[in-house]
Amino acid sequence: MQSIEKLKFLTETQVRSIAKQFGTPVFVYSREGIEKSCDTALSFPNAFGLTVRYAMKANPNRTVLEIMKRKGIHIDASSEYEAQRAIHYGFKPEQIMLTSQELAKDLKELVESGVVFNACSLRQLESFGKLFPGKEVSVRFNPGLGSGHTKKTDVGGKTSSFGVWHEDIEKVKEIADAYGLKIFKIHTHIGSGSDPEVWRAVAQVSLDIAARFPDCRILDLGGGFKVGRMEDEKTTDFQTIGKPVAELFREFASKYGTQLHLEIEPGSFLMVNNGAVVSAVDDVVSTGNGGYTFVKLDSGMDLNTRPSLYAARHPLVVVSAEGEHSGKTAEYVYVGHCCESGDLITQAEGGGPVPRITGEAKLGDYVVMEGAGAYCSSMSTKNYNSFPETAEVLVGADGVFQLIRKRQNLEQIFQNEIPVSL
Ligand SMILES: Cc1ncc(COP(=O)(O)O)c(C=O)c1O
Repeated sequence: MQSIEKLKFLTETQVRSIAKQFGTPVFVYSREGIEKSCDTALSFPNAFGLTVRYAMKANPNRTVLEIMKRKGIHIDASSEYEAQRAIHYGFKPEQIMLTSQELAKDLKELVESGVVFNACSLRQLESFGKLFPGKEVSVRFNPGLGSGHTKKTDVGGKTSSFGVWHEDIEKVKEIADAYGLKIFKIHTHIGSGSDPEVWRAVAQVSLDIAARFPDCRILDLGGGFKVGRMEDEKTTDFQTIGKPVAELFREFASKYGTQLHLEIEPGSFLMVNNGAVVSAVDDVVSTGNGGYTFVKLDSGMDLNTRPSLYAARHPLVVVSAEGEHSGKTAEYVYVGHCCESGDLITQAEGGGPVPRITGEAKLGDYVVMEGAGAYCSSMSTKNYNSFPETAEVLVGADGVFQLIRKRQNLEQIFQNEIPVSL
C-alpha cells in the first residue's frame, strides 16, 4: 500500500497564503532547512580538515547562494558561467572550483582571478599546461566505477565521459611533466543519487589514485549523496558514510605521510527537501472504464523536467483551497500543463502513466510537489509552450515569505529576439 505523502516544511495555511500572495505555480524554499542541511554537511566526518563545495547546478538562485556563502560553503561550478555567477554573488574566486565538461573559453581570465581549475580530460590538462606552465592544478578521474539513482545520473565507469580514465594516470603524469604542473588535488564524482556502498568503494579507489601523485594534498570525493524524496526512499547518513572514509584517510597518512584534506560537493543533499512547488489543480479528466483519472496542474515540465527525464518520483500533497482537507483519498495520474505527451508527473521509466494515491483533488485545490529544491528550477525546460519562468519564494525561520525571483513576463521572453524585415 502506497503511503500518502505529507508536507515537509510548509503548513497547509502557509500553502494557501503563498498561493494567494504570489500566485501559482511558485517554488518555495525553506531558509531554516537549507541552513540545517549546510550544518549537517559541514559536520561530515574527516581526518584532516574539510571543505564543502555546493554543486550550484542544483539551484543557483542568488539567495540560495548567499545563504550557502554565509555558512562558509564553497562552490563547485560546472561551467565558466556558473563560476562568473558565483563571483557576481560575492564568492571569492579562490572559493570556486571549475569542473566543466567543456573547456572554459575564458579559462585564462578565470584562473588568473583565482578560480581553481579541475582538468576533466587529458586535452583540458594540456590546455591548462600551455596557459599556465609550472602551476598547480586539480585533475578529475573517472575511477572506473559509477552509481546513480538511474542510469542517466551515473557518471562513472566505461559508459561515462566524465573525467580522465583511471588507467591513464601515466598520461596525466607525462603532460604534468611536460608543463611542470603540480597535481595538488585529485577529484572523483561518480553520479547523483549514488549507492552509499559504491561511494565508499570509490573513496578507496580515489585514495589509490592520490597515492600515485606525490604533490597531492587534497582529495575531493564529489557529491552524489542519495536523498529520499518519497517516504519509502532513504537519505544517506553522513556520519555512517563518512566515518570509515575518515579512517581510510588516517591509514593513508600513516602509509604515505600525507594528511589529505577532504572536499565534498553535495548539490542534492543541501537542497532537495528544502524546496517545493505550489501548483493549483486546473482540470480533472477521465478516460473511462479501464482508463485513468488525470489531474492536470498549472505547472509541468517547464519548471520540473525530472519526471519526464528520469521518471523521478516527487511527493504530491493535496491542500484544499477552502480549508481543512476532507481526508478522502483517490487514485490519479498527475499531468503537467505542457502540450507534450511526456509531461506526465507520475510516470513509469520509459514513459506511460503511473497512478498515485493522494488526497482527493478538486478544481482549484493546491498540490504541493515536494523534493523540488534541487535540479528543478535550474534544470527546467524553461519557456516551453512559452510558459514564463516560475517565481521563487523563501520562507524564513520566522515564517515570513520573501519573493526571491519574480515570475518572468512576456516582454522578458521576447527580449532577445530581433525582428528582421522579411
Ligand atoms: C562534479 C560534480 N560534483 C557534485 C555534483 C553534485 O551531485 P549531487 O547533487 O548528486 O550531490 C555533481 C552533479 O552532477 C557533479 O557533476
